[in-house]
Amino acid sequence: MARFPENFLWGGATSAAQIEGARCEDGKGLSHLDYVFFRGAKIPCNFMLTRDLQRARAEEATLNFPNRRGIDFYHRYKEDIALLAEMGFKSFRMSISWTRLFPTGREEKPNPEGVEFYHRVFRELHKYGIEPLVTMIHYELPIGFVDECNGWESPTIIPYCVKYLKFLIDEYKDEVTYWLTFNEINMVTAVPWLGGGILLDRDGAIEVPKTFRPFGPMPPKLEERWNRASHQALHHQFIASALLVKYAHDTAPRCKIGNMFNLHHLYPETPSPRDAFRAHEESEYNMFFCDVMAKGAYPAWILSYYKRHNIHIDWYENCEQILAEGKVDFISLSYYLSTIVTGDPERQERIGSFIRRLQNPYIETSEFGWQIDPTALRISLNELRDRFNLPIYIVENGLGAFEELGEDKTVHDDYRVAYLRRHIEAIGQAIEDGVDVIGYTPWGCIDLVSCSLVSMSKRYGFVYVDADDEGNGTYDRYRKDSFYWYKKVIASNGEDLD
Ligand code: BG6
Repeated sequence: MARFPENFLWGGATSAAQIEGARCEDGKGLSHLDYVFFRGAKIPCNFMLTRDLQRARAEEATLNFPNRRGIDFYHRYKEDIALLAEMGFKSFRMSISWTRLFPTGREEKPNPEGVEFYHRVFRELHKYGIEPLVTMIHYELPIGFVDECNGWESPTIIPYCVKYLKFLIDEYKDEVTYWLTFNEINMVTAVPWLGGGILLDRDGAIEVPKTFRPFGPMPPKLEERWNRASHQALHHQFIASALLVKYAHDTAPRCKIGNMFNLHHLYPETPSPRDAFRAHEESEYNMFFCDVMAKGAYPAWILSYYKRHNIHIDWYENCEQILAEGKVDFISLSYYLSTIVTGDPERQERIGSFIRRLQNPYIETSEFGWQIDPTALRISLNELRDRFNLPIYIVENGLGAFEELGEDKTVHDDYRVAYLRRHIEAIGQAIEDGVDVIGYTPWGCIDLVSCSLVSMSKRYGFVYVDADDEGNGTYDRYRKDSFYWYKKVIASNGEDLD
């Protein structure tokens, strides 16, 4: 087993919307994720249309909005950080809630109570020698921008967002070294509501039949609208990110800024050239989200991809220079699964924006249908090294499972240990291959609200939180078996994985 570098940043990851709760406390405003309502423990609900948002508002008193409760980190952060410290964390990934600092996104001055909350959290982390890794935007945007300009589809949001991002650097640059601008920036093209607060059917832009399911077959008109709106939004996020990176480099040189993208590893279904080209095209598309942020320009081939897929966006006059001046310092990624691509248009199953995928019969699947493939992580890390030659921070990975607290007040999650062990082994092998991996923060180190399902019952944590999908429970925390295992892994710097 390869030795992990000294100072390797072992830790865990979370986001504000999924943990903080206290959604209207101390001056906080509401974000678009606060309007996503629970529909069932296995029903994805983070794709919203106008009718869904209208319903969320009309039935606000009776619908269930788990993100508004989170796991009450806002009040329990000291207890939670003490548990992370007990595991020996070196790094804790969290996000700052834009609406806790700027409740509507348009205020001149930030909300002092929000500003102070994050100072308190950073102080608590540093008390235990834990390095904060901060995502500036983990999907969330103030709900007013959805109403006013359809979220990230419009450039209107850019100056307000950049003001917020710059404020974070000015205020916290001495407490936070590692920053990520946008969480999973590619999610805006896969799920435009989630990643960009975009209602695809806003103002009657398109009619979406009631029978439509976001990950099922796509009517051509909707596909066109989806592609246009989401790639325009992506361009706006690239610009906002690059403006921040330049600002941070100029004013806070000790800070290191990373991108963050959701890595898919794709295999062709067969060795046929048609499948192989399709897999190649989709893999390149996945890497393009890094290309722009790490190399500072859209690669030439993506422009022909845009043409082939009928994607037309407004580029703006000075965007080339902005992107060129805002190259990130390291690559960061989430990695959960690999998939198979077929070139056969009849057999393509639509998942996300462009991803047509099939299940791989050679690898196992979690109870939520996510395919478990540590080898693909090793392969992708090698590819990323060759393409970017930058340090890599793996900021999400993990296994979501239904779990219950046993009578012995713990959870025997040997399946999670097995999952993480295999992924840590793969990372060790990639390090041996010469990849510069600087840290690993598995997702949901403490149980939190699921992003796609807004449920509590899909759990990732080393720590169990006693809360259910309806918000019942004591919210007390309990160590799972994986807690003690991960503690040993960290203490041995990845040597002891038994
Ligand atoms: C990532 C997101 O896509 O996946 C997280 O950055 C999310 O916010 C995680 O929670 C796991 O997804 P889910 O839907 O299982 O919570």
